[in-house]
Amino acid sequence: MPRKIVVTSALPYANGPIHIGHLVEYLQTDIWVRFQKMCGNQCFYFCADDTHGTPVMISARAAGISPEALIEQMHKEHKVDFDGFYVEFDNYYSTHSPENKYFSELIFTRLNEAGSIVTRDVEQTYCENCKMSLPDRYVRGTCPRCKAENQYGDSCEVCSATYRSTDLINPYCATCRAKPTLQISKHYFFKLADYEQRLKDLIAGGYTQKSVANKLDEWFKIGLKDWDISRDGPYFGFKIPGEENRFFYVWLDAPIGYMASAKNYCDRNGLDFDNLWNSTEYELYHFIGKDIMYFHALFFPAMLIGSGFRPADRLFVHGFLTVNGEKMSKSRGTFIKASTYIKHLGPEYLRYYYASKLTDGIEDIDLRIEDFINKINSDLVGKFANLASRSGPMLTRKLDSQLGQLDEQGKGLINKLTAAKDRIIEDYENLNYAAVVRTITALADEANRYVEQNQPWATIKTDLEKTRGTLTAVINAVRILTIYLKPVLPKYAEKVERFLNVEALHFADVETVLDNHKINDFERLVERIDEEQVNAMIEESKEGPMPKAAESVKTETVAAEPFKPECTIEDFERIDLRTAKVIKAEPVEGADKLLRLDLDVGGPEKTVLAAIATAYKPEELTGKIVIYLANLKPRKMRFGLSEGMILAAGTGGKDIYMLSADTGAKPGQKVL
Ligand code: 2FM
Ligand code: ZN
Repeated sequence: MPRKIVVTSALPYANGPIHIGHLVEYLQTDIWVRFQKMCGNQCFYFCADDTHGTPVMISARAAGISPEALIEQMHKEHKVDFDGFYVEFDNYYSTHSPENKYFSELIFTRLNEAGSIVTRDVEQTYCENCKMSLPDRYVRGTCPRCKAENQYGDSCEVCSATYRSTDLINPYCATCRAKPTLQISKHYFFKLADYEQRLKDLIAGGYTQKSVANKLDEWFKIGLKDWDISRDGPYFGFKIPGEENRFFYVWLDAPIGYMASAKNYCDRNGLDFDNLWNSTEYELYHFIGKDIMYFHALFFPAMLIGSGFRPADRLFVHGFLTVNGEKMSKSRGTFIKASTYIKHLGPEYLRYYYASKLTDGIEDIDLRIEDFINKINSDLVGKFANLASRSGPMLTRKLDSQLGQLDEQGKGLINKLTAAKDRIIEDYENLNYAAVVRTITALADEANRYVEQNQPWATIKTDLEKTRGTLTAVINAVRILTIYLKPVLPKYAEKVERFLNVEALHFADVETVLDNHKINDFERLVERIDEEQVNAMIEESKEGPMPKAAESVKTETVAAEPFKPECTIEDFERIDLRTAKVIKAEPVEGADKLLRLDLDVGGPEKTVLAAIATAYKPEELTGKIVIYLANLKPRKMRFGLSEGMILAAGTGGKDIYMLSADTGAKPGQKVL
């Protein structure tokens, strides 16, 4: 009997782009789902955008659009990114949906009726200017412990103290810099501790990996606290039933979004949601990162249990992505957006590389750029694709594209490959993709040895039928290896299927042999990576340490950046703008976007690094009179000292416009 399975990945926030860190999870899940489908199981993969909360609301305000318009735009962008990496959801929905509203209200109401919801007055930080209560991350001020300035409302980045935003010294609103006031407001709380024993039973029953269970144990020891599930308006979210200006906290309705996505799919496809979600006919699995274990191992299952829904069968938790052993970094260019990656490199490289690193553990996985290039070139291209490219064209050109039969040695090879099937299936099932890739690579080595031993390029000159037999074995090896790799490399597999002239391959096909069969012309399966492509991708992902005006024109979607704090006319008047003449302009080595400008400013010469290289050529600047911010404190940047700034604006790329003055103007003149 085929299994029936429902799978989810964590819902990405609708206020930022998908990056290669996110992709660890979506690729891990997608591979698993494709594997299940290839085994003949029914498997649905549901996901959605996580749309609610303060950051989305503030980003929308900053962009001058409604939150609805913002999340619609992000939904489209996310979908393009996922499609680009062949992440194939059965439904990619939104938490801002009628289904999600329905389930959020239903679950809340049931929990309330069960006595699991209480209300309490809470002291909160409020900005009179922005007219909103401020979440911790939107209040900044001086750390009450070490007195470091400009710290977030929940923790200090200097001394790591954690505190409440009301404890900050000289707090200010991160959006407008106004001093916040304190406000008392009623909040709703979910009594998580009521579910302690049921959660413990769930976890003891193998709900998640051992290492996760150990972490959960620590939390049980500390004690489960009531969870604040409401936020005062204005807030982008669902109103709490019976309230006018109170909303569900985003984390309440986010995981319920899994159900909403499933329900929406069921309704559109004539399936019974209650049966799918709530009966044991379907297995249910969530894939998540280790940063959101608390929500998925405690809050969400408790909410489900308390409202008469069943929690998932298992939670699969994975680690974070590091690049070259370090956290992804914008300045190093390793914070790589999915859309940037795809401009430079093929999606299956990353699918293959992640697969080669993924296990069922929660350790971080490291993308080592050099190792990445090597693995693709030596294994994917050198071992797998090579096997096909060595045999396909010879069969087509010299042997009428016709497969023959396996000889004894060929049978031996194919038997070895077939014998690995159960182990590979088990490793896929248990998320040990790294082991799968190791096994398959060893089998490819075996097949390549067979080619070396049988030397079809030599026998083709003397014995056509022997060569046909050899190549038939090689083609069968290609076919089996492709089946094993197909969950990881779906497009590569499609190309092989076309070339072999066969239907879509499944795991069961490992048991059969392709003989006396006509194949199609060979098409190239995968190209080598050139280091230059990777360098270009990293270069494009680099953001300098100077997020202002001409020196860093942002190309990111405006939605990701809130407005800068208000500045007064007095602040503005402190700016000293002058004319300056460009004496020399030259590229900056290692920084594609920067030009080094030597300026005559009517006094000692100044050097400025300006991020205008994508729009201006150095030679067109010499002799130009530009507008120069003369009293900007000189700053040491990665590529040297920048003594001021020239004025330019635009959205980036070619779209940057420099302010200039009449070439007759003298350098150093005051500009109004
Ligand atoms: O951590 C995050 O990115 C959240 N948006 C994940 C939500 S997962 C689920 F609960 F919706
Ligand atoms: Zn404010």
